[in-house]
Amino acid sequence: LASTEVDLSPIAVGSAVTVMWRGKPVFVRNRTPQEIQEARAVPVSQLPDPQPDQARVKKDNWLVLVGVCTHLGCVPLGQKPTDPRGEFGGWFCPCHGSHYDTSGRIRKGPAPTNLLVPDYTFTSDTQIRVG
Ligand code: FES
Repeated sequence: LASTEVDLSPIAVGSAVTVMWRGKPVFVRNRTPQEIQEARAVPVSQLPDPQPDQARVKKDNWLVLVGVCTHLGCVPLGQKPTDPRGEFGGWFCPCHGSHYDTSGRIRKGPAPTNLLVPDYTFTSDTQIRVG
């Protein structure tokens, strides 16, 4: 499929879903106020791949990411409540130890760049189309 529709209404604050888009996992997380605050508190200049959180989202709470580690392509952990999320509360790639923050930005480990934000649009308040 060239694009994938995602219904956001069942995704509670603090939880996430994974959908498939062009053969890749896409993470959709409904961030808590604390996760948003943490993503915005860090000075952008201190980041390995400097990007403000605001440039990575269309709505503050909804974070949409291609769930493929930018090091060598493993799928990072952090989607399930019981998953390790690494030292920055976002995702942890167990293959070689990359830590991503609550904006999906690389903070520690070998991954060179942030988790990719795919092209997507809000088609309603509770629906997005990825791709
Ligand atoms: Fe993720 Fe290497 S593939 S750290």
